[in-house]
Order: sequence, then structure tokens, then C-alpha cells
Amino acid sequence: MNVLVVGGAGYIGSHCVRQLIAAGHKPVVLDNLVYGHRAAVPEDTPFYPTNLGNEKEVGKILRKEKIELVMHFAAYAYVGESVTDPLKYYFNNVAATLHLLRCMIGSGVKKFVFSSTCATYGIPEKMPLVETMPQAPINPYGQTKLDVENILKSFAHAYGLSFAAFRYFNAAGAAEDGSIGEHHDPETHLIPLAIDAANGVRPPLQIYGDDYPTPDGTCLRDYVHVDDLSRAHIAVFSKLSTPGAALFYNLGTGTPTSVLEIIAAVEKVTGKPVPRSTGPRRAGDPPALYADSTKAKTELGWTPQFTSIEAIVETAWKWHEANPKGYAKA
Ligand SMILES: NC(=O)c1ccc[n+]([C@@H]2O[C@H](COP(=O)([O-])OP(=O)(O)OC[C@H]3O[C@@H](n4cnc5c(N)ncnc54)[C@H](O)[C@@H]3O)[C@@H](O)[C@H]2O)c1
Repeated sequence: MNVLVVGGAGYIGSHCVRQLIAAGHKPVVLDNLVYGHRAAVPEDTPFYPTNLGNEKEVGKILRKEKIELVMHFAAYAYVGESVTDPLKYYFNNVAATLHLLRCMIGSGVKKFVFSSTCATYGIPEKMPLVETMPQAPINPYGQTKLDVENILKSFAHAYGLSFAAFRYFNAAGAAEDGSIGEHHDPETHLIPLAIDAANGVRPPLQIYGDDYPTPDGTCLRDYVHVDDLSRAHIAVFSKLSTPGAALFYNLGTGTPTSVLEIIAAVEKVTGKPVPRSTGPRRAGDPPALYADSTKAKTELGWTPQFTSIEAIVETAWKWHEANPKGYAKA
């Protein structure tokens, strides 16, 4: 299948590009490199440094590359910034996505895979999270993702768009061969921050609260390997042949892991101590967030291949050890 990977120079998108190639598909990458890295995309993969909201350019790409399906990873994803600058988030995550969708529908491309998030659930009352639980985001970032989910539902009904929205938990790790990995700037994710602290390239790791009602007092999250996430995106292809398919899946391992357990895994894998300090809780951080991914398992045959946090951290370490400063340039 010819697949347009929007945001394919970013962390998850670039891993999905490799998985698409491994599965015999033809990825084409569109990314304006606001946060992505050209070096994360194979040299011989068609690459368009375009804004996803540019309907004229996107239309040309869809036709020229004979695109059959669009995967949409591109978004701004800094929760704090979304609170202080919601305009920026609604424009990029919702308005630009509408341009992309209008262009697709106009060009007759009606298969879509969307990166949603567990942040659409807000502060849940029960764990683990199943897809039918209430969605009540507590910040504009999560709201933009829920808005797109709702737009997609109505487009499936009205225009026969077939889509899957994957609600990721915490994407983690890197390609097993160490060729690509995680490099956000600024970085806010725990595993790269802990590795960088161990490597001495960042200040000590800040732990936000150790008085939560969890076994060791730190927050519990569900870390899912980036290649496992990518494999789900491909496993859903056959389901998207049904016009108007509207599919939602949680993607996580279902195993809650605490901040202290991540630190212990990083120390074990790197053989270095993780310098750290503990501060107060951060507003809006639920004590625990983890997935019930039974639906993805049952309907897509998706099973995460990385089930231990150490195995995930090992892949992250392989990338960071070889690239302590990340990608050399955009
Ligand atoms: N990383 C996680 O743990 C996580 C968890 C839940 C959901 N998500 C979602 O998954 C997606 C991918 O996350 P990521 O960590 O790979 O992010 P990322 O920032 O590494 O990748 C996003 C890519 O999109 C590109 N982009 C942004 N706006 C664009 C635009 N207007 N036009 C063209 N390209 C644009 C950026 O340059 C970047 O390469 C995002 O939508 C994010 O909200 C990520």
C-alpha cells in the first residue's frame, strides 16, 4: 500500500516508516520539520518538507504518489504549552487536520490512521482504561485530540471515511538496530530524561511527587514500545477496507510502571546512577494511567512484543549511547 506518513520525521512516525518498509509497503513522508529530523527518514523514502495544512501541496502529493492511506502523527504535544497557548494547538492539531482531511476526501483517499492519546480520558475514575470509558480531557492538548476523534466519526458517517484512532499510552524505546530513536526538543519524556541524567548531559532528573497512593508513592504509567505501536498501525489496514469504519483502540501493555521503577531500569541497563531530586506533585498528573488493550488484541491480533520495561529501556539506551546528543541536525 502507498502510505502518506504525516509527521513521519518525528519520533513515532519515523519508527512507523521503518515498519511499513519492513512489511513491504511504500511510505511517503510529509513533515515540515518543526520538530522532526530529516535524518530519521531513510534517504530513499520520498520526503516532502510541507505543512500538512497546505491543501494545494498535499493534493499534489496524494496524486503524484498515488496515496491509498494516510497516517497522521503530526501534532504539537506539549501539555503545559497547550494550556498557555491553546490557539497554537487548535490551529495545528485541529484546523490543519481539517485541511488534510478535506484534501483527502476531495482526492478520493478515504483511509486514515490517527495518533490519539490516553490524555483524552482526563483523570479517570477506574483503571485499567477501556475504550468505552468517558473521555474528559483536562487540557487543550487532550481536547484537540478528542475534537479530531469526533470530527473523524462524523466524516466516517457522512463521507465514508474509514479510520482508526489509536489512543497511545507512553511511547518508549527505539529501533532495535539502534538506527533511529527518540529526540524531542524540548524533551519531556521520562526515559530519555533519565538516560540523559545518567549520561551527565542533563541536570538531575526531577521527580514530581512521591506521595501518591501507589506502591512506591510515584506515578504509574504504561510504557509501550514504539515499534509495537507502529505494528498496530499496519495490523489495522485490512479493517479499513470497509467504508465508514470508525475504530478506536487503546495501545498500551497494560503494565503500570512507576517513576522509581523506570529509574531502576535505567540504572540497571546503563550501569550508571541516575542523579535525581524529588519535588512536589505537578498539577493534572493522575496517580495511575494504564491501558486495557484487549480490543486491539482481539480485533487486530496485536500483542506487544516488548513486555518488560528493561527490554524497552535497552533499545532506548542503544540509541542514546550511540547518539548522546540525538540527531546531529534537523
Ligand atoms: N510520544 C508519545 O508518548 C505520545 C503519546 C500519545 C500520543 N502521541 C501522539 O503521537 C503523535 C506523534 O508523537 P511523537 O512523539 O512522534 O511527536 P513528534 O513531535 O516527535 O512528531 C511529530 C512530527 O510532526 C511534525 N509536524 C508537526 N506539525 C506539523 C505540520 N503542521 N505540518 C507538517 N508536519 C508537522 C513535526 O515536525 C514532527 O516531526 C502526536 O500526534 C502525539 O500527539 C504521542
